[in-house]
Amino acid sequence: MNHLLRWTTMMGIILMSAMTFQGAGVKSGSTTKSSFGKTPEGEAIELYTLTNKNGVEAAITNYGGAVVSLKVPDREGNLGDVVLGYDSVDGYVADKNYFGAIIGRYGNRIGHAQFSLAGKTYTLAKNNGENTLHGGVRGFNKVVWTAKAVPAKGGQALELTYLSKDGEEGFPGNLKVRVVYTLTDTNELKIEYFATTDKKTVVNLTNHSYFNLAGPGSGDILRHILMIEADKFTPVDVGLIPTGELRDVAGTPFDFRKPTAIGARIGADDEQIKLGGGYDHNFVLRRKAGEAMSLAARVTEPTTGRVMEVWTTEPGVQLYTGNFLDGTVHGKGGIAYGKRSAFCLETQHFPDSPNQPKFPSTVLDPGAQYHTETVYKFSVEKR
Ligand code: GLA
Repeated sequence: MNHLLRWTTMMGIILMSAMTFQGAGVKSGSTTKSSFGKTPEGEAIELYTLTNKNGVEAAITNYGGAVVSLKVPDREGNLGDVVLGYDSVDGYVADKNYFGAIIGRYGNRIGHAQFSLAGKTYTLAKNNGENTLHGGVRGFNKVVWTAKAVPAKGGQALELTYLSKDGEEGFPGNLKVRVVYTLTDTNELKIEYFATTDKKTVVNLTNHSYFNLAGPGSGDILRHILMIEADKFTPVDVGLIPTGELRDVAGTPFDFRKPTAIGARIGADDEQIKLGGGYDHNFVLRRKAGEAMSLAARVTEPTTGRVMEVWTTEPGVQLYTGNFLDGTVHGKGGIAYGKRSAFCLETQHFPDSPNQPKFPSTVLDPGAQYHTETVYKFSVEKR
C-alpha cells in the first residue's frame, strides 16, 4: 500500500514536471492594453499589462507612468501583488503619495525651491514647506505619457515618452524624456531612463513604487529584512534637506550592511530617525569603480519567502518607510493603506544636488544623453 502510494506520487511528480517543462516550452509573454478611465480633462488613459513567460505580471498606466500592480510568485509559486496603487486613473489624479509613479524632472528635494546654473537663478514651486519635492506642483507623476509596446529580447517592454517644456515647473530647457519598462522572463522589472535637453538643466529621474512583499493589506513592513549596500548616508535638516555631510552608517540605525528587520531600529532615540519620522533618507551606495550596474539593496519577506533585489547605475537610494501613510487612503480593492504598510527604495542622485557642489552632479548639457537604469529583481528564498 505504502509502496503503491509512493509509486503513484512519484509518477505524478514526473508527469507534472514533464507537463511544466512542456508548458514552459510553448508559453510566451504578452502585452495587452485596456481602458483605465479618463482624466478630469477628458483624456482617455490606458493600462498596459505585461506578462512574462512565467505568468509574472506588471500593469503600468500612461498616467504618470505608474506601476499599478506587480504580481510575483511566493515560495509556493502563488502569484501575488506586491505594490500599492489604485483601481483606476481617478486614484492617481487625486494621489499625494506618488504611488508607483515616474518622478521628475527632479526626484526628491531641492532646498529653498531654487538653484543656480550657468550664472542664472531658477525659482521653482514650493510644494513641500520651503522646498520643492518630486518635480514641483505638477511633476512627471501627474502628466499623461505617450505609451507604446516595443519589442524586447527575453521579455515584454513598454516605452513612455514625454516632452517637458522649457520653463515647466520652473526648470530650464525642453527636456525630451523616454522611460522604458521591461518585464524580463527572469522576473525582473527593468526601468531605463533617457533624456536630452536643449538648454543646460538638472535631471534626476526615479520610480516611486511602494512595496509590500507580503501583499498590500497584509499589515506593516517592519518584519521585512533589508540589506543596503551603503557605508554612508546623507543626514538631513528639519526640512529633510541634506546637510552636505556623508555620515558613516556604523553604529547608527542606518546600518543595513547586514540584513536587518526594517522595524528593528525604526523607533530608535536617534535625531535623524526623528527628523524623518522613521526612514526617509538617501543612502550613498558602495560602488566599485567602472561598474555599470551594482546591487543597491535586497529585501526578504520571511512569511512568503519573496525576495526583491534592487540593482542600479545610480549613486544613491532613498529608503522611505511609508511614514506619511495614515490609513485614510484606500487603494486597489478598497484596502486602507496604513502607516508603514509599504516601503520605497527610490534609486536616485542625492537630494538637493543642484545646491550641493560636493554631491555627484545632476546637470545635463545640450547634446549629452541622460541615461540611468534600475532593476527590481524578484525571486524566492526557501524555508
Ligand atoms: C519621498 C520623500 C518623502 C515623501 C514621499 C512621498 O520618499 O522623501 O518625504 O515625500 O516621497 O510621500
